[in-house]
Amino acid sequence: MKTKEVYSDLIKQLNNLLASYQVAYFNIRASHWMIKGENFFELHKVFETAYNDATVKIDAIAERILTLGGQPLLNATDMLKLSVIKENGQNGDQEKCVVAMLNDLKGLAVIETEVVKLAQDHEDIVTADLITKYLGEQQKTAWMLSQFLNKRSTITR
Ligand SMILES: [Fe+2]
Repeated sequence: MKTKEVYSDLIKQLNNLLASYQVAYFNIRASHWMIKGENFFELHKVFETAYNDATVKIDAIAERILTLGGQPLLNATDMLKLSVIKENGQNGDQEKCVVAMLNDLKGLAVIETEVVKLAQDHEDIVTADLITKYLGEQQKTAWMLSQFLNKRSTITR
């Protein structure tokens, strides 16, 4: 394995992903709590599955940073500064909650694509593989959320 200095750009981008994922987690959890309406039970569960999944991925990202010799961000202040995803206070409107999660997934995908490219540049196939899997899973989730919105055709995307 290469040294921390060699991986510094990759570690920085992984920390951006870590920060953004933490904010996405809070957003998705807020939607889980606040969701209301005719699809309450379904969406309450969808958001629960998503934030539990985010917890696992956040942990793996931080531990990958440590494995590469880096230091993961440890506090919320730094994460809020670095995150490309903004906090999106929810009023529980189901369509807004789904659109918000879709937007968060898109934001994460942008950083993840950067991480994969950097990892490939470093021939770090483990990080590239880890994050590529996340991208694939999120694309599938985004497809399902989009299908939900198509079904409810009043949404603007
Ligand atoms: Fe819950």
